[in-house]
Amino acid sequence: NEQGKEKTKQKHQALISSLPKRERGDMMQLALLQYQGFWLGSEPALKGILFMQDHFKARPTDIVLASLPKCGTTWLKALIFTIINRADYDFPTHPLLTANPHDLVTFLEGYLAKHESISGLGALPSPRLLATHCPYTLLPNSMINNSGCRFVYVCRDPKDVVISTWHFVNKLLTKPRPLEDAFEQFCEGVSPFGPFWDHVIGYWRASLELPEKMLFLKYEDLKRDPFVHVKRLAEFLGQPFTQDEENDGMVQEIIKLCSFENLSNLEINKSSSTATRSRFKNSDFFRKGEAGDWEKYLTTEMAAALDHKIKEKLHDSGLTF
Ligand code: A3P
Repeated sequence: NEQGKEKTKQKHQALISSLPKRERGDMMQLALLQYQGFWLGSEPALKGILFMQDHFKARPTDIVLASLPKCGTTWLKALIFTIINRADYDFPTHPLLTANPHDLVTFLEGYLAKHESISGLGALPSPRLLATHCPYTLLPNSMINNSGCRFVYVCRDPKDVVISTWHFVNKLLTKPRPLEDAFEQFCEGVSPFGPFWDHVIGYWRASLELPEKMLFLKYEDLKRDPFVHVKRLAEFLGQPFTQDEENDGMVQEIIKLCSFENLSNLEINKSSSTATRSRFKNSDFFRKGEAGDWEKYLTTEMAAALDHKIKEKLHDSGLTF
């Protein structure tokens, strides 16, 4: 309702002036605010997350893709969309051939920051497929309680995340940012929705506690063995491939449709189109699509320093990169 909406907006305004801040020049060329341990842009991230906390009601059938930026969100949006809607679309006329994955799967916080209302989301039929970069500890109760939604989380080697983020942010700049600066800040934990380690650990722990609610994936594993992971995804989402589907090559077709090679070469993703979604072009979401590209950019010392930091931060979690 209007009153609730005003309250959330006021909370957002009050936080903007009171939270620790990093001004322009940071990773995303936005003023990042530190909210409950995480670095968020004031809009849409913080505003969207406040709206999520105050107003969003998860359904048990909801499927939520959670990730840090540059960890494989675009790829997973495409894969999950294709898996769960496979009865509705044929490959030759598939929606992914004419729409960017970000236009098929909505970011919750982006949507809520823009619309300041959940009514459009409420009108979506079940199962809803949504995405978020929200840290686990900031999710609303309706999403994390037992009867809440299911999550797929995707993460990636932080060394590739630094490089991918650096390239991505440079698209917005007239003069590229020195890699050393971006790297240093990432290692200090100042990155969009970071610290990296706190974001991954929140979802990692939840996946250990509630494996039927949270599927935890790594970009590198998907790259190495997409067949196994696409099947795992379908099973986790309650729509395992039938023997007939497997015999017909359905899994391979999905992998091919959603591959970097295929998506990045489609007119829609080569175009400068931005829809109304963000400051980024569709093509900005497709750079190289490889694991280990960091080797071309980071010195041995930089890589060792970040590896060391990550090891230290994740030491007792059982999670490694
Ligand atoms: P690189 O910059 O290393 O190439 P996100 O989607 O979370 O923003 O992550 C973007 C990263 O995923 C980019 O990594 C991008 O190239 C890669 N990517 C995009 N689509 C992909 C796909 N279909 N398969 C594999 N990687 C993909």
